[in-house]
Amino acid sequence: MATTHRHASVAALEALAAFARSAQPARLIAVLPRPVVEVLSAAADVVLVALLAVYYVLEAAVFELLPRRFTSKSVDGQVVLVTGAAGGLGRHLAARFARLGATVVVWDINQEGVTETVRRVVSAGGLAFGYSVDLADKQAVYRTAALVKREVGAVDILVNNAGVAFGRTLMQLTDQQIETTYNVNILSHYWTTKAFLPEMMRSNRGHVVTVSSVTGLMGCYRCTDYSASKFATVGFHESLFTELKVLGYDGVHTTLVCPYFIDTGMFAGVKPRLLPMLEPGQAADDIVDAVLTNQVTVTLPGSVRYLLPLKSLFPSKLSWALMYRLMQGPQAMMGMKPKG
Ligand SMILES: NC(=O)c1ccc[n+]([C@@H]2O[C@H](COP(=O)([O-])OP(=O)(O)OC[C@H]3O[C@@H](n4cnc5c(N)ncnc54)[C@H](O)[C@@H]3O)[C@@H](O)[C@H]2O)c1
Repeated sequence: MATTHRHASVAALEALAAFARSAQPARLIAVLPRPVVEVLSAAADVVLVALLAVYYVLEAAVFELLPRRFTSKSVDGQVVLVTGAAGGLGRHLAARFARLGATVVVWDINQEGVTETVRRVVSAGGLAFGYSVDLADKQAVYRTAALVKREVGAVDILVNNAGVAFGRTLMQLTDQQIETTYNVNILSHYWTTKAFLPEMMRSNRGHVVTVSSVTGLMGCYRCTDYSASKFATVGFHESLFTELKVLGYDGVHTTLVCPYFIDTGMFAGVKPRLLPMLEPGQAADDIVDAVLTNQVTVTLPGSVRYLLPLKSLFPSKLSWALMYRLMQGPQAMMGMKPKG
């Protein structure tokens, strides 16, 4: 309902701007020099964006204040596929979507973990299907996607969550580890999204969730592969968002999630100075909440987003002093037990 009103109001503003433009007498446009017409047209767009800015800020404020039950969509009966759901954050996400009535599809390379996640969902009264799949293998992804469509049906919400982190410096990383990081953390997003997006586009309904990281917005020590692959997921999400908007698929949503450290074991040994690690169940709750309310970008915790612009605003030596002396990010990463 809220979405319908929003669309109607924005459409009204846009129609008004279009009318203002078309109302200019054609003869006047014909006699005006082209640069003047372009300036007038740009001025009309500035006025429109200023009106939209007021509208969107008010809308965001109201949205924050309204109880979630008025602003959340339902996932009851929908198919939600979560990659990397054999444990960690993915398992929590699968459990939460199942609790909301979704049929959950669990993908992971870890067969035992897949079975355990499915068992937990089913024993809690939910519906789940598990598939063991190596996301680094493009053909396996396409094959398993076809199987899911036959056995479960079209996927409504795709959560690209699987990830790997080796926790090594560039010169310690093997070439194969670097390739694995890229294959799992970003390339697999292309294969899964290409596999499941067509049905979403056909029905103009769906959601693609990209689990990135704060390291996808800010590089960190021992993360040349991980952080770079997570930066790529940000570009992937932002570009996909743009494509869906421009092509008119306003019912297919995208959410980018950039969490700070989560206590799942992926970064075991890291001792962050400023904030404690996030609790995985709480992180999953926040992510599900963001999906249900069609949020486009979420950083966890939300306060981290105020720190991020500093790296562009401050001189680089000051940014480094903040990072090294105050946050002690590199020192925190030194505690990580390298993997692989
Ligand atoms: N833990 C953190 O501090 C943290 C912080 C920010 C973002 N993230 C991101 O959150 C997501 C979930 O991470 P997590 O903390 O739950 O870690 P995790 O290691 O517990 O879970 C990752 C899952 O991905 C699976 N996986 C790895 N390679 C795979 C492959 N080739 N094919 C299929 N599945 C594969 C693993 O088996 C595992 O179940 C990841 O994308 C991670 O980068 C984690």
